[in-house]
Amino acid sequence: MRGLTNRVALVTGGSRGIGAGVVRALAAEGVRVAFTYVRGVEPAQALVTALEQEGGEVLALQADTAKPTEIRQAVSAVVAHFGQLDILVNNAGVFVHSPVDEVAPDEEALAHLWQVNTYGTAQTVRAAVEHLSAGGRIINIGSGSNIRTPYAGTSDYAASKGALAAYTRGWARDLAPRHITVNIIQPGLIETDMTPTDSATRASLLQPIMLGRFGTAQEVGEVVAFLASEAAGYITGATLNVDGGWSA
Ligand SMILES: NC(=O)c1ccc[n+]([C@@H]2O[C@H](COP(=O)([O-])OP(=O)(O)OC[C@H]3O[C@@H](n4cnc5c(N)ncnc54)[C@H](OP(=O)(O)O)[C@@H]3O)[C@@H](O)[C@H]2O)c1
Repeated sequence: MRGLTNRVALVTGGSRGIGAGVVRALAAEGVRVAFTYVRGVEPAQALVTALEQEGGEVLALQADTAKPTEIRQAVSAVVAHFGQLDILVNNAGVFVHSPVDEVAPDEEALAHLWQVNTYGTAQTVRAAVEHLSAGGRIINIGSGSNIRTPYAGTSDYAASKGALAAYTRGWARDLAPRHITVNIIQPGLIETDMTPTDSATRASLLQPIMLGRFGTAQEVGEVVAFLASEAAGYITGATLNVDGGWSA
């Protein structure tokens, strides 16, 4: 155990995929965890039930990172329910395929991408930061797309995650005097609902991964749990690539 048992975390977008891996990893450390989701009430409730059966204290909140009012309400609900907030994991993020030369770009999808991945995430930090005390942690989930561009049509997604990396360094500087650390994890290809299932596409995606396999949400969750722990107290403004060697 990593000494996190008296801690409270908020994980955005925690009902499925990487976020659910983060929720599970933190709950396994005894952290009381709240997480947000937007559409999937069933997966959110299933995760709460599963973790409660294991003795965890978990709270699911329907709150869209794209909507500042819902973000503020979610942060207030966490503090009202658990009495504190120590760890914020900004995981909610969306992907848009948007080649720069496409004739009719989906303006709505592009605006939503920036609203969730960047502006809404910054709003979440602004809402949470007043509650974080010394030893607090902010952990952002970026993307390896910020450092490597092997697939066409990913520029807007990559740029939004690049902005999150820049935010990470700025927030680390701003919050260092309060002994709050801020770091970013850049996952490579992680097995989630979005991972292609046809074998030809999987084989081509696997090709540049040194370790020869996709990562798991649990593996990202374990790195979050480490960054949340006291053992990581001297790490701030840092980027951790969790990608099986994909970006190296
Ligand atoms: N999967 C990868 O290979 C990979 C690689 C690099 C980086 N990432 C990053 O990792 C993060 C998670 O990705 P994922 O693949 O795990 O995604 P995912 O499987 O699509 O899961 C997304 C989760 O976020 C929630 N969500 C979606 N939009 C939201 C919003 N506006 N506000 C709050 N919650 C929202 C979803 O809830 P509902 O189902 O209820 O909508 C769900 O719980 C993203 O930031 C992504 O960019 C993923």
